[in-house]
Amino acid sequence: MTTDTLARVYRVFYEGVLSRLPEERAIAIGQTALRMLPFDRLPLFRLDDPRLATTLGGVRLPNPLILAAQYYDTTILRRAMGLGFGAVTAKSITRYPRPGHPEPNLVRVRTAAGPGLINCNGFKNPGLDAFAADVAKLPHRVPLIVSIAGESPDDCVELVRRLGPHGDLVEFNISSPNTKLVYAWSEKPAELRAVLEAVRAAAPRPLILKISPDFADANERHVIPAALEAGVGIVNYGNTRRVEDRRLSQGSGGLSGPEIFPATLENVRNTRARFGDRLALIATGGIDAPDKARAVLDAGATAVGYFTAFITRGPLLARRILDELVRRR
Ligand SMILES: Cc1cc2nc3c(=O)[nH]c(=O)nc-3n(C[C@H](O)[C@H](O)[C@H](O)COP(=O)(O)O)c2cc1C
Repeated sequence: MTTDTLARVYRVFYEGVLSRLPEERAIAIGQTALRMLPFDRLPLFRLDDPRLATTLGGVRLPNPLILAAQYYDTTILRRAMGLGFGAVTAKSITRYPRPGHPEPNLVRVRTAAGPGLINCNGFKNPGLDAFAADVAKLPHRVPLIVSIAGESPDDCVELVRRLGPHGDLVEFNISSPNTKLVYAWSEKPAELRAVLEAVRAAAPRPLILKISPDFADANERHVIPAALEAGVGIVNYGNTRRVEDRRLSQGSGGLSGPEIFPATLENVRNTRARFGDRLALIATGGIDAPDKARAVLDAGATAVGYFTAFITRGPLLARRILDELVRRR
């Protein structure tokens, strides 16, 4: 069977089974399968070709595909490292454990562009001490990006100082829309500049700033210039788009999936045109097919991140994108 046929089989399984189950059940099934089944041992999911390699902050990625932040379970992160990605991002970690927002905190959406998600996860995570102990034991089959979410400058510095050594790169998340914790940084350019400098000075690894599509003007005028002035040379554009949804416990959440792809493409194109080669750019948001990955790379992205399509299109998407990238070289 070809990868395209297997991808179609997954799509039927997603549409016919997973997407009909309550979200929590579907997530539990998906995560249990990822933990239990050694998919990462199958060469089918990967394509090793030196022409695909790229670098981010001097770190070599075997290819430009990045699993975006959502998992903190190191068993799942280990599996994901064998599923074709050139780097894997861990979930944003906070100084102290957080239970996240109450359920429902994840709902599906059907848009004209295809299936997506809206989440108000609220940074459910085990906190710095527990995650640092777990991630210290994770072998890096491909580069690991650790992600931090801090409310105060002290939090951010402590997080980057203690988690940084366990990653190959460190992502500073200022863009998740579900808590005031990080979302407000984009509206405080002076404070952001100071915290970026402090975090950059404390970071033992190259730093990525993950920014929000909800602040396109502020990003161009203040946020990206502040990053560059602080010596942060990698921007991940971006995160989910904030939307209202009364099904969620918070009444609002972050929309992910193909509906946000046009904005991702436009933001990447504009950012590259405005800032040229002064930064490396990861494009994240709505990439769910090989042609979309190709489009953001053509628009100036250095690398391509996705999360939602890992669920909705399945674990073979990375391989299908890589096949397409090699074909077009
Ligand atoms: C359930 C869920 C949890 C997420 N948690 C994080 C997080 O902890 N940190 C972060 O930077 N982004 C987080 N994201 C955002 C994704 O990493 C990604 O930026 C976003 O979903 C847009 O990409 P996509 O359309 O490919 O999913 C989360 C997304 C989802 C759906």
